[in-house]
Amino acid sequence: MKLRSRFAPGYEVWGRLNLYGPLVALGVGAGGGRLRHTAVGELRLEPGASVIDVCTGTGLTLPYLAAAVGRAGRVVGVDRSPAMLAGARDRAMSPPVELMEGDATALAYEDGTFDGAISTYGLTAVADVEDAVDEMVRVVKPGGRIVVADVHFVNWPAPAAINRLVTAGLRPFNTWYTDRDFPALLAERGLRVTSVPTHRAALSLTVGERS
Ligand SMILES: C[S@@+](CC[C@H](N)C(=O)[O-])C[C@H]1O[C@@H](n2cnc3c(N)ncnc32)[C@H](O)[C@@H]1O
Repeated sequence: MKLRSRFAPGYEVWGRLNLYGPLVALGVGAGGGRLRHTAVGELRLEPGASVIDVCTGTGLTLPYLAAAVGRAGRVVGVDRSPAMLAGARDRAMSPPVELMEGDATALAYEDGTFDGAISTYGLTAVADVEDAVDEMVRVVKPGGRIVVADVHFVNWPAPAAINRLVTAGLRPFNTWYTDRDFPALLAERGLRVTSVPTHRAALSLTVGERS
């Protein structure tokens, strides 16, 4: 048995116990589904388009992506947690959905493979977020869109010390970095960035367009 399976941390546990769905529903509220729908709409995908869902987890955004591109399209869901991907397998529609175990910081795709890239509540979980954003930008074609929907406490009225406390408290169970500034991360990579309003102050929806 691999070390990772014996001492399964964070998402492996949530995935195996089927706890991720209820937890995320609690965290993002009734508007959670609407936010996924809006986020996918911001990708402006045509039927037949290709898109990558980075940190797809149990695949909660996959049905929206599959509906946008249709059976002639391609939706790739990448995550490094086998237990989370097992949940995704139950809702993945094949075609157009393919699931891939892999790391967001080293995507196994050529430059400019996809018409769009999305991550919903994924990048707050990635330790090396700069590398993950670099990868999302790299695998998208010029003119394509990158959409990030996530928890984003930068503009939330909780003091920074509380954010740090929450992050530190969760560390044994999970990785959760709530202080990421997604508009800045995309703008620094030369993307034309728009911030779209969401139903909660602590949730952000950021759209970047590659030139
Ligand atoms: C909060 S879940 C988000 C799941 C899903 N995108 C959603 O909208 O519900 C975060 C996911 O990021 C994955 N993850 C964290 N770091 C990763 C990395 N470096 N590469 C790939 N996946 C990663 C975890 O395994 C987990 O499934």
